[in-house]
Amino acid sequence: MARPHYLPPSAASLTASLRDLGYSLETAIADLIDNSISADATDIQIFCDVSRGAPTLVIADNGHGMNEGEVIAAMRHGSTDPRKKRSLNDLGRFGLGLKTASFSHCRRLTVISSQNGSRCGAEWNLALLDDWYVSVLESNEIADQPFVDTFGETGTIVIWRDLDRLSEGETGQKRDEIVNEKLSFVERHLSLVFHRFLSGEIKGRKKISIRINGHAVMAFDPFCRKNFATQMLPEETVWVGDEAVVMQPYILPHHSRLSASEYDFYQDRSDFISNQGAYIYRNGRLMAWGDWFRLVPKGEATKLARVQIDFPNSLDEAWTIDIKKSRARPPRAVRERLRQIIQKITARSVVVYRGRGQKLFQETQAPVWERYVDHGGIRYAINLQHPLIQSVEARLPTDDLASLHMLLDSIAASLPVEMIYSDYSTHPREVSQAPTDEVEIIERLKGLRSALFGDGPGDPQAFMQIVRSTRLFDGQMDTAERFTRETFA
Ligand SMILES: Nc1ncnc2c1ncn2[C@@H]1O[C@H](COP(=O)(O)OP(=O)(O)OP(=O)(O)O)[C@@H](O)[C@H]1O
Ligand SMILES: [Mg+2]
Repeated sequence: MARPHYLPPSAASLTASLRDLGYSLETAIADLIDNSISADATDIQIFCDVSRGAPTLVIADNGHGMNEGEVIAAMRHGSTDPRKKRSLNDLGRFGLGLKTASFSHCRRLTVISSQNGSRCGAEWNLALLDDWYVSVLESNEIADQPFVDTFGETGTIVIWRDLDRLSEGETGQKRDEIVNEKLSFVERHLSLVFHRFLSGEIKGRKKISIRINGHAVMAFDPFCRKNFATQMLPEETVWVGDEAVVMQPYILPHHSRLSASEYDFYQDRSDFISNQGAYIYRNGRLMAWGDWFRLVPKGEATKLARVQIDFPNSLDEAWTIDIKKSRARPPRAVRERLRQIIQKITARSVVVYRGRGQKLFQETQAPVWERYVDHGGIRYAINLQHPLIQSVEARLPTDDLASLHMLLDSIAASLPVEMIYSDYSTHPREVSQAPTDEVEIIERLKGLRSALFGDGPGDPQAFMQIVRSTRLFDGQMDTAERFTRETFA
């Protein structure tokens, strides 16, 4: 008969292997923030100091803290059974995050916790690892820890030292650059992943604050709900067993209409396009985003679409979450509904997208530029019927008309289409053709008026329409209107 043979994992090999689960600095820190949020913290601070003798990264919270027995239990790999039902507010699942996230970046992990002023602590140091014996700290050792003075009466600080992966072997200025760049990724990641906690929109929870070296992380809403041009489609619910999964589709405004901070977040159009897709939240925490789960390819037709999907932690099993909590695949019923939602959305987001293109050329009755579609080709040409051109023609000797038309045809033929396309698609905000200098604007308005009406009275309404069509005064309509009121009075 087979006999049982006790075979615990080798502490040294297992902890070494677990270092390579693939956490980035931002996913590792987010995993620790999950713990702080689960402990009802409202204030979370990250301190990163790599210039001191022993580079240190600390995550401090004002959550409910742990007593010594709980700190020791927290240091255990597999501290809780993933099959155990968790409370509704708990962002944990595997009983691993604290250890795996920390060891992905450091070789020495210290946890100090305080409840009503009474402190306790424990430490794993991979350099001194002795089987699975964890070091439980004495009070004098606790008092010597970095950043313990940031503690209130109750809370927890997690200290990472021996940060062998943070600066990628670089020193001095290069190291500081690498670390600062990583911290800016951390900020971006946290502002998105925890945006609903940061904005305080989660029911029954206080707003939380996260600071990185004293600098507050602001919530970033991927649906740009504050932007009045965002469209919110009807919410849908799918039942998985007895649990509701709520799906909320949005159609974002064209990327050139994002606010400055929204646009900064996406940086450019390719970022904006790659962020289309489903946004999956577990208990309000964003787990995965920017994916259509192969239901449709990411492309122009769906680029403005985002679907917020909310599921509770009781459905973990069905969503195949990974240890790093950076992946979650919806169960079949949800994917099927998502497919239907995408079909509805594509129809709409195409409207938003095309709508803008057409508007550009239909805004005025007599535009300067006209778009022709003929023989399967598209051609842009200057509208010779435009009042400004007509008025110039009227004053030119007939012999010169041919030269004028040649000039206009040549301007149209040499339009730098590729360059415009490339600039506009990557930096829509920076492409601006109209002058902004006030004196120049008034001069041009006067020039336009005399070109059109000479010294005659002129029609203010017609004038304003032509002003609009020239696009010379875009963004300066107030000045143009004032000029028209005053000079045509
Ligand atoms: N900042 C904290 N405040 C209070 N308790 C904490 C804190 N960090 C960890 N703990 C306790 O330690 C336990 C282990 O944390 P760990 O992150 O390893 O696992 P988990 O959160 O349970 O699951 P997961 O692996 O999904 O993160 C937690 O369940 C919690 O009880
Ligand atoms: Mg955790």
